[in-house]
Parts: sequence; structure tokens; C-alpha cells
Amino acid sequence: MNDFIFHNPTKVYFGDQLGALTSELEQYGKNVLLVYGGGSIKKSGLYDTVTGMLSESGFKTSELSGVEPNPRHTTCNKGAEICRNEKIDVILAVGGGSTIDCSKGVAAAAADGRDIWEIIKEGKTVEKALPIVVILTNAATGSEMDMWAVISNIETNEKESLGGMGIQPRAAFENPVYTYSLPEYQTACGAFDIFNHVIDNYYLAGDATFDMILNFQENVMKTVVKFTPVAMKEPENYEARANLMWASSMALNTVLDAGMVHDPACHMMEHEVSAYYDITHGHGLAIITPRWLTYILDESTAPAIYRLGQKVFDVQDGMSAMDGARKSIDALSQFCFETLGLKSTFTELGIGREHLEDMAKHSCHGGVLRGIKTLTPDDVQKIYEMCM
Ligand code: NZQ
Ligand code: ZN
Repeated sequence: MNDFIFHNPTKVYFGDQLGALTSELEQYGKNVLLVYGGGSIKKSGLYDTVTGMLSESGFKTSELSGVEPNPRHTTCNKGAEICRNEKIDVILAVGGGSTIDCSKGVAAAAADGRDIWEIIKEGKTVEKALPIVVILTNAATGSEMDMWAVISNIETNEKESLGGMGIQPRAAFENPVYTYSLPEYQTACGAFDIFNHVIDNYYLAGDATFDMILNFQENVMKTVVKFTPVAMKEPENYEARANLMWASSMALNTVLDAGMVHDPACHMMEHEVSAYYDITHGHGLAIITPRWLTYILDESTAPAIYRLGQKVFDVQDGMSAMDGARKSIDALSQFCFETLGLKSTFTELGIGREHLEDMAKHSCHGGVLRGIKTLTPDDVQKIYEMCM
């Protein structure tokens, strides 16, 4: 088990508690920038609820709308300019991971004064940013309760992370009801994103394990396996939506990586795919993860992959570690491509081989991907090939 520091300052209001929104915002000031995506919050009625509450309580509200899935750096810059012109005190993000991440980019660029891409490329942690309050509408990324943002530059085909305590949301409103309107496809993609965030920190090899966390991780993955099909069939099933929503926050709020080895290989590989082809993040992960597990399967990883299958997918006991691990990967693939109904190859998403070599190099950022198994650009390209 590795040493760790745990510090997560986001205050979460879970359930029907939006009444506390104005007092949460008020502590930062009365000038709010409301950030949202392509209109789902208008269709669901959440936009009217929120703007009604803000105007009743005397807030001055500016808006940044149309945040793209895979949010663009240009949209962050546009938001930062509004913040400077309107002297914004606090940012209110209402939406999924893209809206929250864009708000984090806006908050950092507004406080810093430079183009967000310059700040991202500098690679420093963000200490200073405008405060952010979140109303979550998609159970997926964990952005509601973490210090990360992932921003895309479509001119250069890059998708990069920005991180630091400055951009960690001060408060998050998580009402499962706000996810009732999520389409089946987004529910499935979000769920697999949650699942993969756990795998990123799952004990796959070596001695460094922490039993309490391992069991917790397996429970979160089981929760995703149990409740995603329910939410897909019955979008207004509160229990299913609530379990997925809290799983989203737990998977990336650093509770589950305490003491463990962090290996975000699948995320690094997927970010390149969505940078080049603008696909949905969770879908890219679902295609990559079973192939990555197959690629890293050997005597050192087989026992843990088998354990994952036994605990999460009820794979039968009593097999050899290698056979059990293969069955576990099959069970994971079945979950992704049959239960979640996601297309199983890059080819089906219209992705060709033309950029695979560049994507592989970029995912390693000029070196290698370090983790459970070190991956070179050549390894990554082979994994991409397995996904075709
Ligand atoms: O834009 P609107 O109209 O709101 O529609 C969105 C969008 O089309 C829709 N949606 C969201 N909530 C809805 C809804 N539709 C109906 N009802 C609702 N309640 O769903 C679509 C996808 O939304 P988006 O925010 O893009 O999805 P998600 O939450 O999966 O966010 C994905 C982004 O987050 C990044 C991903 O790379 C991707 O760019 N990530 C951020 C992380 C972080 N900050 O820590 C970690 C993750 O690993 C991930 O990389
Ligand atoms: Zn993710």
C-alpha cells in the first residue's frame, strides 16, 4: 500500500436540495456566469428553474451557452472574456462533464488573463481561478468533484488536461432526477467512463494493495454493472440514477485511488481518439479497455484480472489464473458491447488507420505510458490496431 494524502473540498448536496444554490453562490458575489451545453437543460426545464432562482434572489446573470461535448479551448477563452467584461464573481456550470470542464477552463483563464491553451501547455497546476459551483446532469466523468478539466484544441488535434485545486468545484448539486432525460447512449457511455475510472486505479499487479479500497472499487464497478441496464430501460428509475450518480463522483474524487497504483493508460489512449475523431469519451474507453487488458495479460496480471471478473461479473471460481482472466475479459466485453449496446470497433465509428501512428506517439507525450505495464508508442499502436 502506498502512502497518500486525502483532501477533497467539494461540498456535495445530493438529492432534492437545489434550494441551497443561491446561498452557495452568494458567498462569492452577485455576478454569475451561467455555463451550459447545447440545450438539454432548456428541454428538461432545469434552465428555467435555475434562472428563475437567480433572478428572484437578485443575481446578475451572464451566459456562456453551446459548450461542445469535448469542449473547445476557444469556448473557454470566450467565457473568460465574458468574465473580465462583466466582472463575474462565480461560475455556475449546469450540465455534464464537458460543461463542467469548460467552466474550469473559463475560471482558470479568467483569473490568469492568458489564452487557456497557453496555460494548459505550460503544464502548471492551477492555484488561482474563479470559484465554480456545479449542477450535474450526467453521471460519468467525476468532474463535479475533482480538480481536472480536459480541453480540446481542434485546430491541432490535441486534447489535454488542466489540473489544480483552484478549479475544483466549491459545491456540487447532484440530483439524480436531473439525469432522467439522458438518452440511452449517453447513459451507457457515462457508465463505462465511471467503470474505467475505477480500473485506472485497480490493483492489477505487484504487491501494493489495500484491501478496503480494493473491495470498495469492486463495489463501485458492480454498481455500474447492476444499475446501468436498469437506467437504460427505465430512465426515471431513481435508485438506478442515484447509484450511478454517486458512483460517478466516487470513482474520481480520489477516494478510490488511495494507496493504489494509478494507471490511466486507457484514458491517455482514448483522449487521442476523441481529439482526432470527436467521439464520445466513454465509448472510446469501452472499445479500448478490453483490448488493453488483453494486451497486458501475462502471469503477473492474470490473478488480478481474474479476481476482477469473479467479483464484478461473477466469473466462475476454480479456473487457472490465465483462463479465469480470459473469461473475465470476455465478460467485460459482453458488458460493453451487448449489455450497453456499444459498437465494438473503431472502424464502426468511422475511424481509419490514417492517424494511428501519430495518435500513439501523442498519447505517450514524447516518452512512454507508465503504469502497471510500461507502454511505448509501438505498444499503443498495436492496441489501437486491436480496436479496428
Ligand atoms: O450539451 P447538452 O445539450 O447539455 O447535451 C449533452 C451532450 O450532448 C448531453 N446531456 C448531458 N446531460 C444531459 C444530456 N442530455 C439530456 N439530459 C441530460 N441530463 O449529453 C451529451 C454529452 O455530454 P458531456 O458533458 O459531453 O458528457 P460527459 O459528462 O461524458 O463529459 C465528457 C467530457 O468530459 C471529459 C471527457 O474527455 C469529455 O471531454 N472528462 C473529464 C474528466 C474530468 N474532468 O475529470 C475525466 C474524464 O475521464 C473525461 O476525460
Ligand atoms: Zn474518463
